[in-house]
Amino acid sequence: MARGFLLLSVLSALSAGAQAATLPAADAALGKKVHDAYCTSCHTDSVYTRKDRHVTDMQGLLQKVDVCGHQIDVSLSKAQMNNLTKYLNDTYYKFK
Ligand code: HEC
Repeated sequence: MARGFLLLSVLSALSAGAQAATLPAADAALGKKVHDAYCTSCHTDSVYTRKDRHVTDMQGLLQKVDVCGHQIDVSLSKAQMNNLTKYLNDTYYKFK
C-alpha cells in the first residue's frame, strides 16, 4: 500500500518536471553560431559528452545554459538562450 503510493508520487513528480521543462521553438543552427562564438573559451564540447556530466535533464540544461550564459561578455536574449539549449540538446544531450 505505502509502496504503491510512493511510486505514484514519484511518477507524478516526474511528469510535473517534464512539463515544466519543455523547450520553446528554437533554431539549433543559430544556437551553434552563438555557441562557437562565445561558449568555448572555458570548456570545449567535451563537458557535454563526458561520462559524469552534470546535466541530466532538460530542466538542468536550461539552468546550466542560463548560468554559463551569464559568464560571457555579451548578454544573450531569451531567444538566443533557447537556440543554444536546442543546439546542445539536439547535438549532445538528446533529452525528450
Ligand atoms: C567563464 C567560463 C565559462 C564560459 C564562458 C562558459 N562556461 Fe559552461 N561551464 C563552465 C564551467 C566551469 C563548467 C563546469 C565544468 C565542470 O564541472 O567540470 C561548465 C559546464 C557547462 C555545462 C554542463 C556540462 C555537463 O556537465 O553536462 C554546459 C551545458 C555548459 N557549460 C554550457 C555553456 C554554454 C552554452 C556557454 C556559452 C553561453 C558556456 N557554457 C560558457 C564555465 C564556462
